[in-house]
Amino acid sequence: MKVAVIGSGTMGSGIAQVAATAGCEVKIYDTNQEALSKSKATLESTLSKLVEKEKIDANEKFRIISNISYAHALGDLSHSDLVIEAIVENAEIKRKLFAELENYVSPETILASNTSSLSIASIAASCQKPERVIGIHFFNPAPLMQLVEIIPAVQTSEEVLKTTLETIAGWKKVVVQVKDTPGFIVNRVARPFYSESLRMYEEGVADFATIDWALKTIGGFRMGPFELMDFIGNDVNYTVTETVFTAFYFDPRFKPSFTQKRLAEAGFYGRKSGRGFYDYSKELPNPTE
Ligand code: NAI
Repeated sequence: MKVAVIGSGTMGSGIAQVAATAGCEVKIYDTNQEALSKSKATLESTLSKLVEKEKIDANEKFRIISNISYAHALGDLSHSDLVIEAIVENAEIKRKLFAELENYVSPETILASNTSSLSIASIAASCQKPERVIGIHFFNPAPLMQLVEIIPAVQTSEEVLKTTLETIAGWKKVVVQVKDTPGFIVNRVARPFYSESLRMYEEGVADFATIDWALKTIGGFRMGPFELMDFIGNDVNYTVTETVFTAFYFDPRFKPSFTQKRLAEAGFYGRKSGRGFYDYSKELPNPTE
């Protein structure tokens, strides 16, 4: 199967690795050349670490890398059977991309969005063939996280849904079909985990490192909420909260936090920018490794 991934950031790079590992021919495209180069370097170092840990051998690393190539224009994706979009979480930018994509791909190509919270119906409505659009929501880091939410829009055809469920299950993921609602399952349930932690921090109940420590030590969570927000990216996490809050008609349960908004505005995204709640110039261990 020929797969295209649009957006070579945190998620796009991970999704490309998953598809390439499953034996697909993958093309990654990003408007930012630097992001593409970074994605290539990250893939190389991630796979090298897996070889060092003897989780894969050198031949497998070579096979995965050979399955991935880097595109420099949307037109280079024309032969794809499945396109997975993982660009910025902005409805208008995604809609514009989907509308443009249709000029290049075949009428049978499935167009999927990895959006965390936006309406798949609204993205599909930007297309001439909305029945080919579906949500495929991977979790971060995509190669490690088992669950993938599959979100058919009201317009999605049964055939596209069936092919998508089979394809992603074939990539050794556990698929769950979810209704097209804000935040789907996981991002909706997770909102209070972040929001209540942020509120506690803002109220001075405890500092964020203590809240993280308590949730990991007492709660048994692998990462504390602030570590996790830095891992996801405060820009992405804030936008998802804002989208869910707005989509639920400003239900106060989902109210976003000014603290996180200011971090996102300052470019303190977390691990990917070197600083978020924590300072990553101090080389903190990566909790997922
Ligand atoms: P990111 O900021 O790491 O990467 C986004 C990439 O998209 C950047 O490299 C950027 O240059 C590129 N881009 C932006 N506009 C573009 C366009 N018009 N065409 C081509 N490339 C473009 O973002 P991340 O974290 O990978 O998120 C991507 C999507 O995945 C978002 O919709 C997000 O909500 C979703 N998501 C994020 C998760 C996370 O933990 N970060 C988890 C699951 C879903």
